[in-house]
Amino acid sequence: MDLQLTGKTALVTGASRGIGLATVTALLAEGVRVVAAARTITPELRATGARGVAVDLTTADGPARLVDRALAELGGLDLLVNNVGGGDADANWTGGFLDVTDQQWSDAFDVNFFASVRTARAALPHLTEARGAIVNVSSTSARTPHAGPIAYSTAKAALTAFGKALAEEVGPRGVRVNTVSPGPVRTAMWESPDGYGAQLAASLGVPHAQLLDGLPGTAGMVTGRLVDPGEVAALVVYLGSPLAASMTGADHIIDGNSVKAV
Ligand SMILES: NC(=O)c1ccc[n+]([C@@H]2O[C@H](COP(=O)([O-])OP(=O)(O)OC[C@H]3O[C@@H](n4cnc5c(N)ncnc54)[C@H](OP(=O)(O)O)[C@@H]3O)[C@@H](O)[C@H]2O)c1
Repeated sequence: MDLQLTGKTALVTGASRGIGLATVTALLAEGVRVVAAARTITPELRATGARGVAVDLTTADGPARLVDRALAELGGLDLLVNNVGGGDADANWTGGFLDVTDQQWSDAFDVNFFASVRTARAALPHLTEARGAIVNVSSTSARTPHAGPIAYSTAKAALTAFGKALAEEVGPRGVRVNTVSPGPVRTAMWESPDGYGAQLAASLGVPHAQLLDGLPGTAGMVTGRLVDPGEVAALVVYLGSPLAASMTGADHIIDGNSVKAV
């Protein structure tokens, strides 16, 4: 299938590893010219050949500076993938509501919501010019908020709502906005020894490997395994392509049926 993306331009955030890195790789394979952003330009990102930009997107001016750099590099913008999110190892999100400080709420919203809002704001005039598209990477926790850390789930629910509202506003100007909501994906968030998965295992008093083995079952994934980052990337790339011309304002779940509601 020709996704008709050859020669198009894209900006991907949270691109140094995991879903973002897989998305960069998939876009490049379709002939897209890509600018890829994270705080760290990892060897894996550098090896893709994408133009890496080191930026902290939780700063007030980071997103606008990134979009300026992307435009200087690409000369225009057809696709913005707002993938940045999660939280740093020191976020320590395994407690209950009363354990979450103002700072932790603020950090969760900065990385999972405001970074994408600000990047979309800076990119929108250029996406309008190109009649382009935005794909925001949210989470199934937006729909099942009890299943994740409360500040993370709440910030992702805001991101999903933001995508729906923005699609309505910018659709008549030719810009499509979609949300991709993965269930548990095999990335550092779950697998790293200092990631959320390891912290959750420690808080539950079970070995990290045991938590990972049981996770598909605990999460109700009928596929019996975590989602592969490449599967999420393929969905993002399709939504960014002209083949998805009538898909906008939608939240696309990719979760092995862990969300049981229609
Ligand atoms: N993995 C899952 O199970 C899962 C499930 C549902 C949704 N998601 C969502 O999918 C997206 C990607 O998740 P992932 O699992 O691939 O995460 P990941 O492996 O932790 O990667 C996160 C990416 O974001 C970058 N990043 C983090 N903070 C940043 C900041 N302040 N400024 C700029 N870049 C920053 C990281 O690079 P640096 O650290 O170098 O900055 C990295 O490239 C996130 O939005 C996450 O919430 C993940």
